[in-house]
Amino acid sequence: MTRSYPEAVTFPFGRPGPFEPPEGLASLREERPIASMVYPDGKVGWLVTGYSAVRSILADPRFSSRRELLDVPLPFALMQEMRTPADPGMFIRMDPPDHTRYRKLLTAQFTVRRMKQLEPRIHEITEERLAAMEKAGPPQDLVREFALPIPSLVICELLGVPYADREEFQRSTAVLLNLESTVEDIHATVATFRAFFVRLIAAKRADPADDLLSGLITNGDLTDEELSNIGFLLLAAGHETTANMLGLGTFALLQHPDQLAALRADPSLIDNTVEELLRYLGIIHVGPLRAALEDVEVEGLLIRAGDPVTLSLPAANRDPARFSDPDHLDITNPATGHMAFGHGLHQCLGQQLARVEMRTAFPMLFDRFPGLRLAVPAEEVPMRDTMSIYGVRELPVRW
Ligand code: HEM
Repeated sequence: MTRSYPEAVTFPFGRPGPFEPPEGLASLREERPIASMVYPDGKVGWLVTGYSAVRSILADPRFSSRRELLDVPLPFALMQEMRTPADPGMFIRMDPPDHTRYRKLLTAQFTVRRMKQLEPRIHEITEERLAAMEKAGPPQDLVREFALPIPSLVICELLGVPYADREEFQRSTAVLLNLESTVEDIHATVATFRAFFVRLIAAKRADPADDLLSGLITNGDLTDEELSNIGFLLLAAGHETTANMLGLGTFALLQHPDQLAALRADPSLIDNTVEELLRYLGIIHVGPLRAALEDVEVEGLLIRAGDPVTLSLPAANRDPARFSDPDHLDITNPATGHMAFGHGLHQCLGQQLARVEMRTAFPMLFDRFPGLRLAVPAEEVPMRDTMSIYGVRELPVRW
């Protein structure tokens, strides 16, 4: 017997305003926090928008992250190619015990000591970008000059990419993030990255230094393929996310002058500001994705073995059942408990690094350019709302 889903929704993309969650998610969350949803291939699964349901599914090992089991609610060819087991090292798309083995090795490298060591470098990298912007003069695209290069250079720093190779690294990264890149461009760039990481790993094996890749080589028995995929995963997971937080976060602060003024008046509000922006902006547009390994009842609904599940972090982080006045950006209101970095086993490995980047970059930007403002009307800022990570494509600014 086939099940029928008369009320199945489709994944909503369009956002009614630059800082709003996708259209219709608020009413869906109120009426059906776990709603059946039609995926692009016609399969029916679930879209989960309520905070408590999202949190309990992310914490539940009966929901898998294995890539070969996942369905992607995006109609793009590249995404649909993904139904094969994750490559060795790509632990974001694995379950225990494979996930556990890699995660342990990586957690040992994301130490407080290493994050502390990176802080002055993040400061220098930000300073260099701001000096370059100032020299070039207004107007400038803040995404190209600031939001994209900072996280990419920080990942170079983390992995120990030599200075001579950083331009090539950034050029290739830009292709991956360019919305106009074709599937062929992306495949070719992924191959370039693989070759790049193979060379880098050989160099680190020969001459280990005090960086993450060297640490993984010295403290584990990972193959070159695993190491190269881990390098690529860190880039993929850590670059676009942080870049969009910096770009969209700046746009949001410029559009909320009272909030920016409060931050300028009390710089100690920066930690709160970063958490509140993470909660409010909801840049993880699509996912996390999961698949039920067995029949599971969640909040009275039966999710059957094999059903694909899409969790909406933007909707969950605006749930009035969890946050007071959730549709207002308020940097004085501590946004504890948000799930911008996910929850459970796969909760973001790089969250402390991302926080240090944002806590450094936002204040330095607004200090350097006290008159920072948009160079085009706000309605003309091009948004990225058809991608899995939401943000601004460009942010033209003057100062
Ligand atoms: C503001 C920036 C960031 C956001 C919003 C973000 C968000 C997330 C989310 C929601 C997940 C969970 C995915 C899931 O459950 O399937 C995740 C996982 C992950 N993130 Fe981040 N992330 C950010 C920055 C970073 C950075 C800077 C790095 C590393 C350099 C990083 C590395 C990872 C890795 C490796 C995972 C997989 C963890 C696992 O599967 O155990 N992320 N991130």
